[in-house]
Order: sequence, then C-alpha cells, then structure tokens
Amino acid sequence: MSKENEEKLNVTVKSNTKDLFAFTKLLPNRKKRIERASSEPLREDPITDLARKLHPKRQFLVIDEVKEETKSTRTFKLVPDPDSETKELAYFRPGHYISLKVDLEGVRITRPYSIASSPKDALKGFYELTIRKEENGFLTHFIWDKWKVGTKVESSGPEGFFYFEGLRDLTQIVGIAGGSGITPFRSMAKAIIDGTIDAKLTLLYGSSEEDDIIYYDEFKEMEKIYPSKIKIIHVLSCDVVTQEGCEKGFITKEIIEKYCDANSSTFFICGPQIMYNFVEEELKKFNLPVKRIRREAFGEVKDILAHPDFPKEVAEKVFKIKIHIGDMTKDIPAIATESVLIALERANLNPPSKCRSGECGFCRSLLIDGKVYINPVSDWRKAGDKKFNYFHPCASYPITNLEINIPRDL
Ligand code: FES
Repeated sequence: MSKENEEKLNVTVKSNTKDLFAFTKLLPNRKKRIERASSEPLREDPITDLARKLHPKRQFLVIDEVKEETKSTRTFKLVPDPDSETKELAYFRPGHYISLKVDLEGVRITRPYSIASSPKDALKGFYELTIRKEENGFLTHFIWDKWKVGTKVESSGPEGFFYFEGLRDLTQIVGIAGGSGITPFRSMAKAIIDGTIDAKLTLLYGSSEEDDIIYYDEFKEMEKIYPSKIKIIHVLSCDVVTQEGCEKGFITKEIIEKYCDANSSTFFICGPQIMYNFVEEELKKFNLPVKRIRREAFGEVKDILAHPDFPKEVAEKVFKIKIHIGDMTKDIPAIATESVLIALERANLNPPSKCRSGECGFCRSLLIDGKVYINPVSDWRKAGDKKFNYFHPCASYPITNLEINIPRDL
C-alpha cells in the first residue's frame, strides 16, 4: 500500500472510531440533559410556532379593496381581519393557492384560487386574488353580488405544488396560461422582479378576445422595466386583433419555438382543460423529460361528460350514498355527473377539502361499497390508498349506489 493510501486509511479509521465513540455517549448525554432540564413546561416552542405561521389551518380575512380588471374579472385585496385571531398572513411560494370557505345559502363550500400577489406582499399584510365570473359558476355569481370592501372571508393556508423550485427546475421558465390561469404567473413575475425567485419568465398567454386579457398594462410595464427577466406574448384566438405584437390562433409548437428555447426551459401550464388538451399535444413534439412540464391542477373538472371514458349510460342517473361520519349515518342523493364532494356539500356534510382536483388528499375517504368513476388525470391517490379502497370525493363520480366513510372537518 502506498504511503498516501495508508494515510487515507488512517484518517478513515480514526474518524469511524470517533463516530462509534460519539454514538456510545449519545444516550448518557441525553439522560444528563433531561436530568438538568427544568420541570416547567415550555411556554414557547419556536418550531411549532413557525409551522403554525406557515401552515395555518384557517385564515380570517377581510376585503380591503376591489379592482375591476376586465368586464368579467375582479381583483380582491385581502388583509387579516382585525377582529380575528389572524394577525399576519402566511408566507407562500408563488404559484400556491388558498382555498376559500364560503357559506352559500346555508351550504358551506370551498374553492381554490391562486394567489396573484407576491410572497413579499404577504409580509406587507395582503394577498390578492383575481377571480373571473363564470357563466354557470354559482360561487362566482355570489362573489360578484356580495363581496364588497369590508366583507369577511375565511380561507385555508397556502397550498399546492405548482411552484418554481430552484433545485429541480431550469431558471428559464416558460409559462403557458389561458384565461384566469394567468394569476399564478403574476405572482411568479412579481417574485422574479423583487428577487424572491432567481429565474426568467417568458409567458405565452392565450385569450379568446382582447377584452378578456387580464393584467395587460401591468405585464407590459413589467416587461418594459425588466426586459431581461419578463417577456409576455399574447396569443388571441379571435378573428380581429388590434393590439400590436400579438399572435393569432393557439399556442402551437411553432409559437413556442418562436419565443423560447424549449430544451433549456421548464414549462408551467395553468388554464382551462381545453387548453391543456391542446398544449400538451404540442409540447409532446419536443420530447421533453416529464419533470420539465409542470401543471396546475386548477380545481374541479368542469364537464365530466367530456371525458371519453366516463360511462355515458349513467349520465342522467341519481344514486344514493350511505355516509358514515363519526358515529352518524345518513343517506343522501348524488347526481352521476357531479363529484361525490358536491353531493356531500349539497347535504351539508363537508369533509375537509382544499384543491378540489384530487391532488391535496384532504378529502380522502373510504369507499366501503359501490363504484366511482375517477378521472385518470385527477387520480393522485397513493398506491396503498388504491389497494385499500380510499378515494378522493372531489375527483370521483358515483356510477352506482355507494357506501362511504368520510372524515370530519375539525
Ligand atoms: S380536496 Fe384535495 S384531494 Fe380532494
């Protein structure tokens, strides 16, 4: 053995012996520390305190400002409700959402909305949510009618997986947004500008009409001041386009290639299902690794009948669900084309829920008997859950009578 290798071996042996020796001291040292410790219980626990601040179960907010963005879109500025236990807002990652808890005609429902402001704004004391009024969305109509400055709003803490992670993602972000799917990208853009995220954003933003474009001036301004960090390209599907520099049509491979180097970018997609269907086919043409395309789940499926493998023969049916919750049992009706979660909410039985897209697992329940249709895109269950018949009511549709056990919302 060479002298150099001998020395290396000596160092290794010595440090291994040191480790072993330290290990034998572990227990006695711990005992000594316990003996020396005060018998007074800890009044403050900084770690638990931090965890509570970052992941509060509930946040009590009040509307501080309402801004019209487009004819069908408003931005609500939310601050902590001074009459509540919420003294500061939870910090978050750009792309996170909060789940609103709203009492609507005696029924409590939840809806996830991406936070459109930046994490630094949360430290200053506000979140912004930009909400589009949906033609058939009963909650958004309620929000339009009722939400004014001073209205109190309850939400979850920030949640979700749709965020830039420097250890995983390339620093060139290509955002592909449709309609109100632009909201998480506004948060990302602001965070890039204020230095929270070290990345660049090229945003391909699809809208059907010029009037539907959200944050038009704001993004143009950001692009003008920070041209090396933010770039936005509007892609309009309408026939008449008057704005300069807009693309017409849809977000195709050709448009992506024109503005981005796909091979050195990470893609983030957020928008309506129809846009995912189209864009994902276009992105397939680049043969990118799976990890380079990130999708926002973005709430419940709007039209389950549009899913090719949904059993159409049950579409008109109303089934019965036997619910077990704690020691209570109840029968409720459930429409085949509505998720089990909606049936539970209609019956005022609200299991915990946040994402409403099968992703977070908060509504996880046990299917005791019967069959549900689970949209494969929203099936985020663990293998163990699949094996033992657990399911997510927000992403499951009754296709027979059911018997289920649901958790309580504590
Ligand atoms: S609410 Fe998130 S999985 Fe059902």
